[in-house]
Amino acid sequence: MKEITHELLSSFRAPAFPGSFFLSFEGIEGAGKSTQITRLKTYLEDKNFRVLILREPGGTPFGEKLRSAILETKSEITPLAEAHLFASSRSQLLTEVIMKELASPNTVVICDRYIDSSLVYQGHARGLGVAEVLEIHNIFPLNLVPHLTFYLRIDVELSEKRQKMRNAPKDYFEARGIEFYKKLVVGYDLMHELFPKRILKLDATGSLDEVTNSILEVIERMINKKDEMVEEE
Ligand SMILES: Nc1ncnc2c1ncn2[C@@H]1O[C@H](COP(=O)(O)OP(=O)(O)O)[C@@H](O)[C@H]1O
Ligand SMILES: [Mg+2]
Repeated sequence: MKEITHELLSSFRAPAFPGSFFLSFEGIEGAGKSTQITRLKTYLEDKNFRVLILREPGGTPFGEKLRSAILETKSEITPLAEAHLFASSRSQLLTEVIMKELASPNTVVICDRYIDSSLVYQGHARGLGVAEVLEIHNIFPLNLVPHLTFYLRIDVELSEKRQKMRNAPKDYFEARGIEFYKKLVVGYDLMHELFPKRILKLDATGSLDEVTNSILEVIERMINKKDEMVEEE
């Protein structure tokens, strides 16, 4: 497996669109991503932001087709093929939606899973290698990463408990079992170590309100910083 060099890591940057933010939420199933994203959208809209929620893979007509192809497949896809499928959908989403939307000030684009899911699922858990997946993304615009990523951390037991509550059918990834889930948690912790500034690791075992409060504390700081920057201009 390839080495993760400092040079490789440094090619990943957040897009520079003044007044707009690119955010992502990560974590295993049941961590609370979808619930917290909906709550954050309401909060940001009250602050007069235009908010766009995108899910990965998907978000464009082409991406939605890839989403069904990946999540509904009954046959085994290699981790390399999987990584490329996700990257393909992602590059389309970046060009067609994310970059265009961020160009309007006061916009917040929130992705329900983004590059870290590829690094964790295909790179770490499926064994392709984190450096290998980073290399696939080491080309514009795939090297654009969120300003901030909320990693909602829960353990595998709580994930199972919450998924049972949700009662949804198991898809391609969810059907892989407990050992795979354990690798995902290790993988996400590793991503937080690789990108300590961008990825914020939050304990998501508390109540919904507790997790929301932790998120909003960070978001408020982010908004205040933006206002200061505007005042200085
Ligand atoms: N902090 C929490 N405390 C209790 N239940 C939660 C919490 N976060 C999420 N849940 C519940 O767990 C289930 C999965 O949450 P969801 O937001 O769909 O997670 P994800 O999108 O990360 O898979 C939902 O039924 C949700 O209401
Ligand atoms: Mg969800």
